[in-house]
Amino acid sequence: MALLIRNGEIVTLGSRARADIFVENETVTRIGKNLEAPAGVEVIDATGKLVFPGFIDPHVHIYLPFMATFAKDTHETASVAALIGGTTTYIEMCCPNRNDDALAGYELWKAKAEGHSACDYAFHMSVTKFVEETEAQLRQIVADGTASFKIFLAYKNFFGVDDGEMYQTLELAKRLGVIVTAHCENAELVARLQQKLLAEGKTGPEWHEPSRPESVEAEGTGRFATFLENTGAAGYVVHLSCEKALQAAVAAKSRGVRIHVESVLPHFLLDKTFAERPGVGGMKHVMSPPLRAKKNQAVLWNGVATGAIDTVGTDHCPFDTEQKLLGKDSFANIPNGIPGIEDRVNLLYTFGVKRGRLDMDRFVDAASTRAAKLFGLFPRKGTIAVGSDADLVVYDPEYRGVISAKSQHVNNDYNAFEGMQIEGRPSVVTVRGKVQVRDGKFIGERGRGRFLKREASHF
Ligand code: URP
Ligand code: ZN
Ligand code: ZN
Repeated sequence: MALLIRNGEIVTLGSRARADIFVENETVTRIGKNLEAPAGVEVIDATGKLVFPGFIDPHVHIYLPFMATFAKDTHETASVAALIGGTTTYIEMCCPNRNDDALAGYELWKAKAEGHSACDYAFHMSVTKFVEETEAQLRQIVADGTASFKIFLAYKNFFGVDDGEMYQTLELAKRLGVIVTAHCENAELVARLQQKLLAEGKTGPEWHEPSRPESVEAEGTGRFATFLENTGAAGYVVHLSCEKALQAAVAAKSRGVRIHVESVLPHFLLDKTFAERPGVGGMKHVMSPPLRAKKNQAVLWNGVATGAIDTVGTDHCPFDTEQKLLGKDSFANIPNGIPGIEDRVNLLYTFGVKRGRLDMDRFVDAASTRAAKLFGLFPRKGTIAVGSDADLVVYDPEYRGVISAKSQHVNNDYNAFEGMQIEGRPSVVTVRGKVQVRDGKFIGERGRGRFLKREASHF
C-alpha cells in the first residue's frame, strides 16, 4: 500500500527541509511540497515532527552463546524493541567460537533471524580462528552478502584470535574488499590481570574495570591499527570506550591508516561507579571494554561531534539478574553485556542533540548514515531519497518520558539506563513503507524483516 507522510521536517545528512514523502512499493518515490494523496493512500500528518532516515545499529548481539549462558533476546523481541526505539536495521555479530565450524555457525545465526525479525538485518561474520578451510568459507559467506568480518583480540581461547590469525584475516579481507571490525583489548594482559586480582581475593564486579584498564584497550587499538597499516585492510574499532584508545585510533587515522571508530551508548552515559555498586547491582553494569572513569565521557561526546568517532551503536547484549549472578564469586564469570537497542536513539537525541553536544547532522550520521556507508547499505538505507527504502522515523521532539525496565520491550528484567528522562521519541516508524510502530506500540508485521545482502566495497 502507498503511504504519504505530510509536512514533516525531513532531516538527512547535509539537509533539513519541510516537505512531504510519498512511498510506493517499499521505496520513497517522491519528495516535495503539497504532494497529492490518491484515494486509498495511508496519510500520516507529521506537522511539528522531525522525519529521520531509519536508524541503524551497527553492533548488536541477539543469539549469543557466551560465558556459560545465552543472551536473552530473540529476533522477535530485539527487533520489536529496536523499532519502538527508531532502529529499523541492525547488524548482528555472528559469533561462533573457536571450537565451532564457521560456516555452520553462519547458517545457524541466519536461521535464528530468518522470518523472525520485524526489522531488516545483516551480519558481521566473526573470524575466531584461521585454519585450512577458513578462506574458502569466508569467500562463500561474502558471496552470500555478508561483506564485513569481526575479530576479537580479547576473550582468549574462546572468540579471541592471535596476531597470526589477525594478520591472515586482514590480508584476506584486503583481497576481498571487506571491512574488518575488531574488539580491541589485549587478551593476554586481561587473563593475567584477572588471575592476579582474583588471587588477591578481589572478586567483586568493581574489579572488572581494573582487570582490563584503559592501557589494555589502547594497546589493542594501536596493535589493530598497526596490522591495518601493514596489510592495507580497512578496519573498524568497535565499542571504543576511552581517551587513550581514541588517541591510538586518531593517530593511526592521521598517518593514513584506514581505521574507523564506533563507540557505544553505555560508555557515553554510564561510568565505572555503576559497576562498583555492591553485588548484582554492579554486575548488571559489567561489559567489555568496561565502563570507564567519567572524564572519558566528554572525550567520547567530543569525538562524535568532530567525527573522530564515526558511529554510535549499542553492543546490545542482554543478560538478566540471574545470569549476572553467575559471577557472584568471581567478576571474571559475570556475563559481559549491557542492553541498549531500544534506548539508543532517544538517549542520543536527548543527551546529544538537546544538550548541545551534537548537531543534527552528526546525530543522523552517527546513528544511521555513516554505518550505512561503511557497511555497504547506502543509499538503500541511511538516507531519505527517491529510490531509497522507505525506512522512516517520524520523531516527536515534544515527547517526554522516563526509561524503565517496566515498560521496555527488550527481554530483560533490568535497564541500565533506568530513570533517565528522554526528550523525544518516534511517533511512527516504517520498515520499507509499512507502519510498524505508532506512539511506542508495535502495531506491524512480525517477521517482516529481511536479510540485507551487501557488496564488498573496501578494496
Ligand atoms: O560486554 C560485551 N561487550 N559483551 C558482548 C560481547 C562483546 O565483546 O562485544
Ligand atoms: Zn566486544
Ligand atoms: Zn559486542
